[in-house]
Amino acid sequence: MANIIGAIATSHVPSIGDAIKGNLQGTPKWKGFFDAFPPVHDWLEKKKPDLIVMLYSDHGLNFFLDNRPTFAVGAAPSYGPGDEGFGPPAPREFQGDDVFSWHLIESLVKDEFDIATCQEMKLDHACLLAGDLLWPEQEWPAKVQPIDINIMQHPVPSFKRCFKLGQAIGRAIESYPDDLNVAIVASGGLSHQINLAGFINEDFDRMCLDKIVNAPEDLLDYSIENWVDLAGSQGLEFTSWISMRGAMPKEVRVVTQTYFQPLSNTGGAVLLLEPDA
Ligand code: DHB
Ligand code: FE
Repeated sequence: MANIIGAIATSHVPSIGDAIKGNLQGTPKWKGFFDAFPPVHDWLEKKKPDLIVMLYSDHGLNFFLDNRPTFAVGAAPSYGPGDEGFGPPAPREFQGDDVFSWHLIESLVKDEFDIATCQEMKLDHACLLAGDLLWPEQEWPAKVQPIDINIMQHPVPSFKRCFKLGQAIGRAIESYPDDLNVAIVASGGLSHQINLAGFINEDFDRMCLDKIVNAPEDLLDYSIENWVDLAGSQGLEFTSWISMRGAMPKEVRVVTQTYFQPLSNTGGAVLLLEPDA
């Protein structure tokens, strides 16, 4: 039986990649963010997930405004990085689990989620940097199951819908017959809007961080328009956190939690949850 052992949520910005490359993790600009990760590394070392279910929003690599599914699920045996406009990336290979993917897809469709299924999928910075933050300077020891949520082309799915997606993902994992330790990873948020560089709503972010742990249902009735006003248009990346929370049981325990801003133009947060047995 597959089993959800915990969930890790993190903000992402592309310049995390430059900070890692330049070994800048300890500098004042980055320290407050990177300091969040040692407890996450300890937890991963102890728990050793076999698979991470990666919830994020594709940033235009696989889908663009002309063709944008609401939810897209990877079903490839392996994945690679794509060109995000900086030229072809150095080749890397990330192991998928297509047998699990097709179980997930069948389960989601039975659960009335009309998803796109992607037998090829390029991974962007949202996915790659989240994994590189979990396992710095090493090949990822876990397989990856990418799940993309549209926040790019309106209409985008409601928070309630994303929470229900997470619940359906949780049911799919629990009904998988093979022994598999699964960690849910959410990459995105918190408040930011790239064309309003510097717009960060720390009070709102801190409220979200509290509610996502203790009362996620209080977040589900925000309209998309209201959320964009409060958290910026890319603040909708918090849909990945909402879906993550839907996959987790009602009772959870915080292992570690950090808020740090500005993370580039973004309210930066890291959260590690465990089921509260
Ligand atoms: C930034 C944040 C993002 O979520 C992203 O995808 C790109 C850039 C930023 O704050 O710089
Ligand atoms: Fe982003």
